[in-house]
Amino acid sequence: MTTAPATFVKGLEGIIAAQTEMSYIDGVQGVLEYVGIAIGDLAKHSTFEETVFLLWNKRLPTKGELESFTKQLRANYALPEGMIERVRSVPTSAEPMHMLRTMVSALSMHDASPNENSVEAARVKALKILGCTPAIVAAFDRHRRGLEPVAPDTSLGFSANFLYMLNGEKPTEAMTRAFDICMITHADHGLNNSTFTARVVISTLSDMYSAITAAIGSLRGPLHGGANEGVMKMLNEIPSVDAVEQYVMDKLARKERIMGFGHRVYKAKDPRAAELMTLAEQLARDTGNMDLYTKSKAIEKIMEREVGSKGIYPNVDFYSATTYHCIGLKLDLFTPMFALSRIAGWSGHVIEQLGDNRLFRPKAEYVGPHNVAYTPMDNR
Ligand code: SDX
Repeated sequence: MTTAPATFVKGLEGIIAAQTEMSYIDGVQGVLEYVGIAIGDLAKHSTFEETVFLLWNKRLPTKGELESFTKQLRANYALPEGMIERVRSVPTSAEPMHMLRTMVSALSMHDASPNENSVEAARVKALKILGCTPAIVAAFDRHRRGLEPVAPDTSLGFSANFLYMLNGEKPTEAMTRAFDICMITHADHGLNNSTFTARVVISTLSDMYSAITAAIGSLRGPLHGGANEGVMKMLNEIPSVDAVEQYVMDKLARKERIMGFGHRVYKAKDPRAAELMTLAEQLARDTGNMDLYTKSKAIEKIMEREVGSKGIYPNVDFYSATTYHCIGLKLDLFTPMFALSRIAGWSGHVIEQLGDNRLFRPKAEYVGPHNVAYTPMDNR
């Protein structure tokens, strides 16, 4: 039994609430490693499937292991019987993140042993959820456009298959690689709010589906994964690069947050933002969206001048917005993309928590009154 610190730390800032072997973050130097490998190296050389294997197995796969893992994941692309009807029953006006949270929760009802929490069973559930959530998002977007769902193609990798199911045609190599880099860079990130949420839920020995559902609820928040949609709305609001200075200065003067900037841990540029910036520039050039990129760079320069000294720099969401837009994704699908990738991290943390569990139960410091008499209704 360890003695807990007596003081109340708002937002648990700086408190270590778990140990992990998946992500290492140095917020001062701006370093992110997955199992010791720098995110830049993974973004350049790895694939999402290989990165998921790395996170779940704490090492890179051999060629044979990657082939077999890829096969297992592809065997889970298809939705369970009845799920498509359930997606079709969702109002077309529903927000995709509310839909995704609801559908992932529904997946538990198609699992013969949803509460089975052995590490092996948790891995099987993780593969199921990671494998078929792309089909859920793609089927819902096509449904709301009045289109039939496109069945997954198990000859395609995770990223190509998602874009194929969404658009009804095979994506180009360039778009597939760009999307894969987004999936790699969003896969895990220490004890962020949604990952902490997943660990808190599974620490009661609940189940993988409840943990991932809760994590999706957390990620939707604009202070967390929802920021990438806010970045795109901001870029669309600014009429031209000449208007950037006034726009940013006005927001800062009103003490408003610039979406895609700042971070609880990073006080330097988020290394994922650096990778996604390069990708955003290349895609913006290729797709005639250079205005988005030039506006983004102008915002970054002003923010560096105005708040860089406070450690406020671009985070993962700032350039992912332009990247997703150039890939052709609708704005309200940006955060669901974050979720598709982060399911890898969330489920990895659920498995870590199950491997060495202790129920999360912090304390609240009572600051209310004591010895208050009960006042009968007639005297109130
Ligand atoms: C993600 O935790 C993770 O790892 C998350 C994530 C992951 O991979 O899981 O990295 C993904 O969620 C990235 C963050 C996405 N969110 C946003 O981009 C939303 C905008 N950012 C902020 O709301 C904010 O920066 C947070 C929430 C991300 C972090 O905020 P903190 O650590 O609670 O910092 P704070 O609110 O105490 O702010 C400190 C100061 C304040 O100024 P003062 O009151 O001291 O004068 O910095 C200012 C804030 O006003 N500030 C900003 C700002 N973020 C902080 N000012 C302008 N714009 C911003 N974006």
